[in-house]
Amino acid sequence: MLEVRGLDAGYGSHQVLWNVSMQVGDGEVVALLGPNGSGKSTLMNAISRLVDRLAGTIVFDGVALHALPPHRLPRTGLSHVLERHRLFPQMTVLENLQLGAGPGAPRDKVARGLDKAYALFPRLRERTRQVAGSMSGGEQQMCSIARGLMSEPRLLLVDEPFIGLSPHMREEVAAAIRRINGEGVAILIIEQNVAVSLAMSHRAYILREGRVVLEGPSSALAAGDAVQQAFLGRLPASGGDREAGDRVG
Ligand SMILES: Nc1ncnc2c1ncn2[C@@H]1O[C@H](COP(=O)(O)OP(=O)(O)OP(=O)(O)O)[C@@H](O)[C@H]1O
Ligand SMILES: [Mg+2]
Repeated sequence: MLEVRGLDAGYGSHQVLWNVSMQVGDGEVVALLGPNGSGKSTLMNAISRLVDRLAGTIVFDGVALHALPPHRLPRTGLSHVLERHRLFPQMTVLENLQLGAGPGAPRDKVARGLDKAYALFPRLRERTRQVAGSMSGGEQQMCSIARGLMSEPRLLLVDEPFIGLSPHMREEVAAAIRRINGEGVAILIIEQNVAVSLAMSHRAYILREGRVVLEGPSSALAAGDAVQQAFLGRLPASGGDREAGDRVG
């Protein structure tokens, strides 16, 4: 469904990603793991065209995303929930959700999206008229995920949805993500906690210093200590001759 190949990307002349290749299959949950600053958000942002690509290809459902103007992205079926839920704080929950459906979205699509959002997060229905900035962190995260779903994506990119949430809120958001995936939406997720990431995903990629150093089925990665080794830098991040990272499983 999503196929990234040989991706180099960065900010201006500061290259962050080096020859990154990864895939997300239909209906899959794929986790991106790695130490702080390893390039996880940059990879997600490059996929959704927020970061400049220097080389490589990004193909989603046969569409070359790398060649598409960024404003066309919402129509491709890909949606990105940014790190630290970037809601419009002065706008209401309803207005934020409506914006998620995309410019000029037909009314029935908006209505359908709102029904789904409120079914997924009943708490949002009680707060439709509240300005988003006055909600708790957990509520804002819910709103931000719900907004990401308004465009009816087939692939949802979610960057650190659990950051700063209480254990209870975390469980609520995790349950929602499972439900979203259960309805057939593929998910690419960044989450710092290794055990949580591997438990909720089918496959995972571990980044270090902007390169994929390890990949495999999450169950296999959870069983050994390769992930820990990768975090500690014991798997070489800069072996020039390696096409992709090590594989487990
Ligand atoms: N807007 C930017 N301009 C310049 N450099 C940036 C920018 N955003 C990120 N970087 C740099 O790119 C590198 C990778 O950052 P990135 O945010 O992708 O890491 P991450 O793996 O998501 O980290 P974290 O776990 O802390 O969220 C870092 O060295 C960071 O300083
Ligand atoms: Mg990040």
